Amino acid sequence: MKVIVVTGTPCTGKTTIAKVLAKKLKWKYLDVNKIIKKYKLIESYDKLRKTNEVSIKKLNKALLKEIKSNSIIDSHLSHYLPKKSVTLCIVLKCSLKDLKKRLIKRKYPEIKIKENLEAEAFETSLVESSKHKNVLVFDTSKESKTSILKIILKHI
Ligand SMILES: Nc1ncnc2c1ncn2[C@@H]1O[C@H](COP(=O)(O)OP(=O)(O)O)[C@@H](O)[C@H]1O
Ligand SMILES: [Mg+2]
Repeated sequence: MKVIVVTGTPCTGKTTIAKVLAKKLKWKYLDVNKIIKKYKLIESYDKLRKTNEVSIKKLNKALLKEIKSNSIIDSHLSHYLPKKSVTLCIVLKCSLKDLKKRLIKRKYPEIKIKENLEAEAFETSLVESSKHKNVLVFDTSKESKTSILKIILKHI
């Protein structure tokens, strides 16, 4: 069974890439937000950031339960899955200028915009993904959805 995780700071393009990839490969697209609801994984709500907080340990457990066939997992938390369960880790990046525009368009609270821009500047998702065997990195402010898809398909 193969598992592709698509990770990166919010608004780097995970859902866009994960959905076209799942459609093209005819693999299951796993929506992490749906799984969080299904397994009631929300532990607290951060009012300031307007975000739900979940335990990574519990989320990993639920995700592993949900993976029943070749799957694409779309989430900035997906790279926390254990190395042995992940065939390919795709890390999406974006220029800070474009990411700021996308985050503002999504109407994120100011503090969350600042924190996400910092996370992107420090390449947090990429650094945390370095444990995985196969990692592909794309900059969605430079590369189109189609060209990214083409390269990913060559690696599967
Ligand atoms: N390769 C790309 N090139 C240009 N814009 C992109 C690309 N991928 C995504 N986007 C745009 O970035 C925004 C965020 O994309 P989305 O897939 O929702 O990101 P995420 O799931 O990481 O939050 C959307 O407006 C989308 O159209
Ligand atoms: Mg998304």
